[in-house]
Amino acid sequence: MPQQEDIFKKLISHCKEYGFVFPSSEIYDGLGAVYDYGQNGVELKNNIKKYWWDSMTLLNENVAGIDSAIFMHPTIWKASGHVDAFNDPLIDNKDSKKRYRADVLIEDQITKYEDKIDKEVEKAAKRFGETFDEQKFRATNSRVLENQSKKDELHTRFAKALNDGDLEELRQIILDYEIVCPISGTKNWTDVRQFNLMFSTEMGSTADGATKIYLRPETAQGIFVNFLNVQKSGRMKIPFGIAQIGKAFRNEIVARQFVFRMREFEQMEMQFFVRPGEELKWFEQWKQTRMKWHKALGLGDKKYRFHDHDKLAHYANAATDIEFEMPFGFKEVEGIHSRTDFDLSSHEKYSGKNIRFFDPELNQSYIPYVIETSIGVDRMFLAILSGSYCEETLENGEMRVVLKIPPVLAPVKLAVLPLVKKDGLPEKAREIRNNLKFDFHCQYDEKDSIGKRYRRQDAIGTPYCITVDHDTLTDHCVTIRYRDTMNQERIPISSLETIIEKKVSMKNLLKQIANV
Ligand code: GAP
Repeated sequence: MPQQEDIFKKLISHCKEYGFVFPSSEIYDGLGAVYDYGQNGVELKNNIKKYWWDSMTLLNENVAGIDSAIFMHPTIWKASGHVDAFNDPLIDNKDSKKRYRADVLIEDQITKYEDKIDKEVEKAAKRFGETFDEQKFRATNSRVLENQSKKDELHTRFAKALNDGDLEELRQIILDYEIVCPISGTKNWTDVRQFNLMFSTEMGSTADGATKIYLRPETAQGIFVNFLNVQKSGRMKIPFGIAQIGKAFRNEIVARQFVFRMREFEQMEMQFFVRPGEELKWFEQWKQTRMKWHKALGLGDKKYRFHDHDKLAHYANAATDIEFEMPFGFKEVEGIHSRTDFDLSSHEKYSGKNIRFFDPELNQSYIPYVIETSIGVDRMFLAILSGSYCEETLENGEMRVVLKIPPVLAPVKLAVLPLVKKDGLPEKAREIRNNLKFDFHCQYDEKDSIGKRYRRQDAIGTPYCITVDHDTLTDHCVTIRYRDTMNQERIPISSLETIIEKKVSMKNLLKQIANV
């Protein structure tokens, strides 16, 4: 089994064992692609949301937050295009009876070519050592060139089929490239069909004539339909943004890769309303701002990249994804889209209401253009965990699993541990915890050996462990142990708050991205 796949499986079971993520309705054998967050998962998730929310609403005086309802008027989804066009191309394998997204099968084939190229490069780098010239190797090696040309050819054909909405061609590509079902191993495929991803339900009693409504597949439309409410009540001037965090629902066909693709998930979206013609400047600015937000967490700049879209939605004039290197490859975590005036114009048309902004500087009314930044909380959660999961062999040969979660996002900031369960040490430890609990999420733990307690805290990513020993009662000092280095230091109890605050402070992180 490839090592990364192995790590991903371990991460999933680690999440369950340590209270981060549980399969939903587990005692009833679970529900496909729906997950519950446990005691540590919810803290990490809340910290991610706070980092995003504060970065939007505190750092930008022209970004305001809202919280709109999940249920919305059904015509909204007609206006947004979701009723007619929020589809995935589906294909079934007749032997395994398994259903796949045709585009995902083809993307996986493209990834296979990329993997082959990477392996060649890796092998050559090992062979040639320091003298290795990667650029030259990629440009001249025959196996690399062969795989690159196969990849490019497939990519071009695929992008055209998607752009044309040509379902027959998608099927033909699957056949031509001999893509097989991962379960049955056969090429016995059905035709490709479109499948709408929205969940629907009914509002009102049937006797009164119930209305079919949808569970929102994105939070963005709640922002668009409140554009004028926020603009008028907040006396906002263009450019300004509206931010929102909330649940979204999609009946994903290929629900896999843990919390990466869920049927119920959470989004953090911000629509930034600008003057027509200025959208590409703002698109570029938000691209840089959002990348900075990600990189400030310190998981490693190499783990992020932009991926510009081949296929632009008909209403978009620029779009890119921020991808993170998950254990299963670089994958989209956030989308940044220049959506023109498509959404507001469409709502104006369908609602019959005027949705324009009077720009006093231009002395003119117009429908603003929109730059959208849209990030999935759950994907961000997965990015943090996969970037933090480490297995380390210690000097004594033991293995420790440690989550090197950025301290500011860690579910528990410190654990206070009395060395023994007697002699007044538990009381002293509780006293320390009680003093710090107003500022930090602290745990108290007195069970098992100190080594075992360190391991438990490492496993949930606690950046600091504070040990209270007999000397503490007289010298008022404790031992602080740092998660990542495992170094230990003797420090006065009175300095604890300052030391911990420095590393876990959201304020410091926000200052870093605000260039203060
Ligand atoms: N309003 C634009 C929009 O919704 P999207 O690319 O469909 O764009 C934005 O989704 C983000 O939402 C993605 O980058 C991803 O992080 C997250 N997301 C989308 N579908 C998801 C799913 N099924 N499970 C988890 N996260 C998802």
